[in-house]
Amino acid sequence: MTYAAFRSIGAYIPSKIMTNADFEKIIDTSDEWITKRTGIKERRISEENEASSDLGARAAQVAIDRSGISKEEIDLIICATVTPDYLCMPSTACLISSKVGLPNVMAFDISAACTGFVYAVSIAKAFIESGMKKNVLIIGAETYSSILDYTDRGTCFIFGDGAGAAIISATTNKDEAIIDVNCSSDGNYEDLIKTAGGGSKHPCSKEVLENKMACIKMKGNETFKLAVKTLTSDVQVMMQKHNLSNEDITHFIPHQANLRIIKAVGEALGFTEEQTVVTVHKYGNTSAASIPMAMNDAFEEGKIKAGDTILFDAFGGGLTWGSALFPFSPKK
Ligand code: UT7
Repeated sequence: MTYAAFRSIGAYIPSKIMTNADFEKIIDTSDEWITKRTGIKERRISEENEASSDLGARAAQVAIDRSGISKEEIDLIICATVTPDYLCMPSTACLISSKVGLPNVMAFDISAACTGFVYAVSIAKAFIESGMKKNVLIIGAETYSSILDYTDRGTCFIFGDGAGAAIISATTNKDEAIIDVNCSSDGNYEDLIKTAGGGSKHPCSKEVLENKMACIKMKGNETFKLAVKTLTSDVQVMMQKHNLSNEDITHFIPHQANLRIIKAVGEALGFTEEQTVVTVHKYGNTSAASIPMAMNDAFEEGKIKAGDTILFDAFGGGLTWGSALFPFSPKK
């Protein structure tokens, strides 16, 4: 039997920092309000010449270097992003494939907003368990700064740019295997988080540009309530299915959208502060990159060790949501 093992994690954090004080200069807000309502103090913004593929390729290189797997062994690249370099083609995964020097590998993007990385884990697992692929590079890469309306004070201060990546590989050792990934969606909530313009529904036009329809619009408060409910029930279902208690989880890594959401979910589920990985204060919400960037931070701080049980919990536009349960299994 072939299983899928989560081998390595990497990230790329753009160096440019945008603080809450920077937002005080462009919208009617305050550091105090943003901190109290979201826990966010700063977020990273990519350079003008950096697109999602540039961020993703840098994160991918770190994940490859840490995996103990040679680049040539990678046979699938999946990039989760809703801020691709190009709206239609080529895919960001294709661009990453050439940037990391893997031009002859199957590569495609997936669009599941903030749940994208968890969807990518699920797809990688399926490809490996079916025997179709052996070493999958998954990436979550976002440049939200390219789709933000910096006059929309209800949304623009939340998001940031960044990328995370991982290598998932075939193994015959069940102890190393990803235990479960559960992903879902509900398009009935399409209007909660949306970029309405620029696609086939409202193709690029004067109206789309004038009304900033290609920028993200979010109904924050409604989204907040659904996020807390869904992120909580998602984990409850996963834990019950595998007959797990909180002590069985070493690191709970929720989507980093808002510290109040993370705290509410963590408290409802009974995870301790030590178990819960939090990076939202320094990176804001980086959508598909948020979970791998958070995991990478914990890894670089020496908190994540081989064999630790990790639980991802994501929620985002679509709506989409999902959780992944796995041991961290670096190659021995
Ligand atoms: O990653 C995908 C999932 N996304 C999320 O999970 C995001 C979920 N939503 C949120 O994080 C929060 O809803 C926000 C941080 C976006 C907003 O916080 P909130 O506590 O839900 O605020 P609100 O939208 O209910 O607005 C409360 C008040 C309003 O004023 P009034 O009507 O009470 O006078 C807003 O106009 O806060 C005002 N407000 C602001 N004030 C200062 C809204 N944005 C700002 C701002 N600075 N930037």
